[in-house]
Amino acid sequence: MNQMAGKMGRTRATLQEKGTSSEARSCRILAPRSRIVSMAFRPRGPAARKLSRTQPASARPLWLFLTEPGLAALLLRELKFINAIERKAQAARLHLRNHDLLVLPEVVVKRREVAPRLATNILVAPVFGREEVGARQLDLLAQATRRERVDGLVTSIAGDSFSRGDFLPRLLRELGSRRVRFSESHRRPVWFLAVDDKFYFGFARFNHHDAPGRLRADREGSLPAVIAAAMVFAAKPGSNEVILDPVMGAGTILGEAAQMAPDARLNGCDIDPAAVTIARRTLADVRGARLFHGDSTRADYNGPQISLTLANLPFGKQHRSVSGNRALYEAILRRSLEHAAPIWRAVLVTSDEESLRSAVQTIGGLSLANVADIRIRGQAATIWSLRRS
Ligand SMILES: C[S@@+](CC[C@H](N)C(=O)[O-])C[C@H]1O[C@@H](n2cnc3c(N)ncnc32)[C@H](O)[C@@H]1O
Repeated sequence: MNQMAGKMGRTRATLQEKGTSSEARSCRILAPRSRIVSMAFRPRGPAARKLSRTQPASARPLWLFLTEPGLAALLLRELKFINAIERKAQAARLHLRNHDLLVLPEVVVKRREVAPRLATNILVAPVFGREEVGARQLDLLAQATRRERVDGLVTSIAGDSFSRGDFLPRLLRELGSRRVRFSESHRRPVWFLAVDDKFYFGFARFNHHDAPGRLRADREGSLPAVIAAAMVFAAKPGSNEVILDPVMGAGTILGEAAQMAPDARLNGCDIDPAAVTIARRTLADVRGARLFHGDSTRADYNGPQISLTLANLPFGKQHRSVSGNRALYEAILRRSLEHAAPIWRAVLVTSDEESLRSAVQTIGGLSLANVADIRIRGQAATIWSLRRS
């Protein structure tokens, strides 16, 4: 997300004033290629359909659920699972650069106070539409901005319908003329999200840092907790699960497992003593977690059989050479299988599909399925599920 603090660039959209009717006299901020249609003009055909897409002033807000890129489908499943939305609800899925976005009408939202572990943010958008921000919408936005005590603007724009350098200065000017001023702090921003010609102004209702028991791993390269949560959710952990993360790093995945499967017995291992120290600190409140320092290709877990292996496998850049991944993956999986219960599965994330496929093939008797194609801090990766075939 780009924090917008009043720096503007080149102008592309146009702010237009028109004719004589009250509608026509008012200002609208338009995306390029938009047309103003005066009240007297009664369009037919495609033009009528275009008009009907604009939001009536009385419309109920939309709910926007943001997540990490690639996790929209899993988030939708989680929202239904935690009874936050109607089971049959359909969401529009949109893609921003750093987020996937689920858009849902308020009528399907069953619980307003929810903390989905797979969401990065929840916003309520009372003002939304297509192509143009009308004068009535600017009035509503100004009212909501004051009501919500907003102090800044956060923007994420995909596509070229809304130009940062043009649209945003005009928006600030229009809001300024409605007595809305933003400070530099941005502690309570209004979000402007635009995907192609669709736009939403959203007010924050949830931030992923506020999820219960969420750990803030203080280790470079640790997995974003929302992705760790998605891996745990995809594994559908049951009661009495025995979970192993053989490359636990700061313990992010085990931390999410502790929240989503509180009855599970957790085991973690890492070859890096500094990682183990951090994991012990971050998982200090998790009862019964067994965290080892050692090499997972040789470790002896010496406890109950593992029913679920969860791992963010090292994939080269930070921890190992890519050429070593295939052998490492094979050795880690073989070791997991030696300690595995008869019913066992794994959920793994890596960007090195070739090494994983090759390791799985060499071991044999396993089937690999794609759960989600994601991005981890901008790098493409995939969440995989693995089970005995
Ligand atoms: C991609 S990181 C995992 C990050 C972790 N999920 C987190 O959120 O912090 C991979 C980890 O694998 C560990 N590792 C690499 N080879 C290992 C091995 N043979 N045995 C155990 N840990 C290993 C590294 O020390 C590193 O912490």
